[in-house]
Formats: sequence, structure tokens, C-alpha cells
Amino acid sequence: MHTDLPAIASPTEPWLHQLTLDELATQGWSQQNHFLPPELTLALAAECRALAASGVLGFAGVGRGAGQTLRPDIRGDRTRWLVAGQSDACDRYQAIMETLRLALNQAFFLGLDNYESHFALYAPGACYRQHLDRFRDDDLRTVSVVIYLNPDWLPGQGGALRLHPEGLPVHDIAPLGSRLVLFLSAEMLHEVLPASCERLSLAGWFRRRA
Ligand code: OGA
Ligand code: MN
Repeated sequence: MHTDLPAIASPTEPWLHQLTLDELATQGWSQQNHFLPPELTLALAAECRALAASGVLGFAGVGRGAGQTLRPDIRGDRTRWLVAGQSDACDRYQAIMETLRLALNQAFFLGLDNYESHFALYAPGACYRQHLDRFRDDDLRTVSVVIYLNPDWLPGQGGALRLHPEGLPVHDIAPLGSRLVLFLSAEMLHEVLPASCERLSLAGWFRRRA
């Protein structure tokens, strides 16, 4: 549906559609299919699985600092933060996110200063209950980004990202490979529904300057 719209060019690939930015502004969230090239999605999925197999994905906590606890009933994903230089695929992804950061700043003057991102793997049945991505003691997270790494996701497999836009019906987005979702971290209540199979993603946050 978005494919014939003008794209905002990146240095290497035309991939971000103007409508994706416009909808983020008008409705507080947006999605774009085929955001990542398919071969990059596959490489990132393989890396996520390899990290899981080598045991370095850790259960994500709820809350922050000393108040952080493991509550798999509330949040069941296992994650690992990305660091520069860990792989060609991750560096390419980070370069694409840098172009997205600049496009968001140019469109909305958000003053987005940096980006943090982790792989996330939800085992079958794992979920992440309704939450906001902005912490009580840290209001720097401004735009949330999720990119899905599941090339063959089928409608019956569950695992939707469920958005709860204020005053509107819920909106479900299936975690289909190469799909990008953006939403405003401080405003959009959301949750991850359980799936019948493994669900892979890269979740990230554009942050304002401290
Ligand atoms: C998160 C999150 C959504 C998703 O990691 O905070 O809400 O669809 N992820 O994976
Ligand atoms: Mn979230």
C-alpha cells in the first residue's frame, strides 16, 4: 500500500516513506512493511538465534535500577543490547537507524540525540503486558522503534503488538519480517501478545539529549 509513495532517500537505499512519518505525527504510531531489505532481515534473525543458542540472551527485567525485578509473567522476552562493531548486519542496521533519526529530527524537530536497541526473543507463550516505554525516572525515550525478524509469520500464530491509542479501539500489528513500527514512547500504551512459536525482533528507542 505504501510502495508507490515517494521515499526519503538514505545514503544507500530508498526505504523510508513520507507517509510513515506523517502517520506518526497524526496518530502517534505508524508502520511500514518491507522496511529492511529481506537479506538483512535474514542475517539479523540468524544472529539473534545464534546469540540465543550461545546462551547470551538474558531475561529482561521490569522497572529500573535497584527496583528491577524478573517477572516473566509480566515480561517474558530475552534480550541483548547491540554494541557497535558486533557484526556487519548490526552495523548496517544501526546505519539505517541513524538515517531514520536524522529524518525524524528534520520532520519534527524532536532533538533526538541517540539510539539504543536490543534483540528480543519471545519463546512460545511469552508475552509483555500493557506498558509505556518511558520510565518514571528517565523521560529521554521519545520514539520507540520495533523491527520484526520473522520472515514467514502466519496470521494464526498470534504474537501481535497490540497498541492502545487513547480513546480509540486497540490496533494489532503482526510481527512480520522486515516490518517497521514507530510510536511515541511517552504516550502509546502497548503490549505483546503470546505467540505459538518463537518471535524475534529488534526493539529500540530514540532518546533526547540528557
Ligand atoms: C518493548 C516492546 C514490542 C514488540 O520491547 O518494549 O514493547 O512488538 N516491544 O516487540
Ligand atoms: Mn514497549
